[in-house]
Amino acid sequence: MKNIVILISGRGSNMEAIVRACAAEQWPGRVAAVLSNRPDASGLAFAAEHGIATGVVDHKQYPDRAGFDAAMRNAIDAHQPDLVVLAGFMRILTPEFVEHYAGRMLNIHPSLLPSFPGLHTHRQALEAGVKFHGATVHFVTPELDHGPIVLQAALDVLPGDTPESLATRLLDCEHVMYPRAVRWFVEDRLQVRDGVVQVQPAEPQWLLALSAPAAGISQ
Ligand code: GAR
Repeated sequence: MKNIVILISGRGSNMEAIVRACAAEQWPGRVAAVLSNRPDASGLAFAAEHGIATGVVDHKQYPDRAGFDAAMRNAIDAHQPDLVVLAGFMRILTPEFVEHYAGRMLNIHPSLLPSFPGLHTHRQALEAGVKFHGATVHFVTPELDHGPIVLQAALDVLPGDTPESLATRLLDCEHVMYPRAVRWFVEDRLQVRDGVVQVQPAEPQWLLALSAPAAGISQ
C-alpha cells in the first residue's frame, strides 16, 4: 500500500479527483495527507471531511525559500510518502527539495509542455494563437515545469475562447488525467528511460477532448 501526500495551495479540485478515484477504484495506495502552504486553502476542508490528515506550512512564516522547503519536507516526510503529488501547489521549489523526492514527485501543469511553462498559461496559449491547448502530468525536476512527461490531454481552441473558458474546459480533462497518472505510479507501471516515460502494460498516454469531430486527413 503506497502512501500518497498531496500538496495544494487553493481549491484542490485535482486533489479531490484523486481522493475520489483512489477510494472508488481501490488503488494499492492511500492518500496519507493533504498539506498546504496557505492556511485558507479551501481544499483542506474536503480532505479533513474525508478523514485524511491535513497540515499547513505557511510560507509567510519563513524568511526564505530554503527555510520553508525544509519545514514542508519535514511535514511531508512525517507521512512516509512513496509519492508526492503537486496539485495546484503554487510554489517554486528549491533544487534540494526536488532532489529529495526525485522519481517520486508528480505535478500537473495547465499547458502542453514544453510550451508555456510558468503562469497564465491559458492567456499565453491564446496570445500565441495555438490551435490546441492542454495539460501535462510530469515528474518534477529542478527546472520549472519540466521533467519526464507521464500523460498529456489536448483540446481544440475555439473562436471566442477566453483564458477562463479554456481553464474551465481543461479542468475537466485534468480531473480525468491526474488520477490516471497517479494510479499508474502506485501500481508501479511507470518506467522512465532517457527522460521518456512509458506505462507498462501500454495504454494511451494522452487524452483528446475535441469539441468537433476530428477532420482527419483526406487526399
Ligand atoms: C489546475 O488547473 C492546475 O493545473 C494548475 O492550478 C490549478 C489548480 O486547481 N496548476 C498550476 O498552474 C501549476 N503551475 P485545483 O486547486 O482546483 O486542483
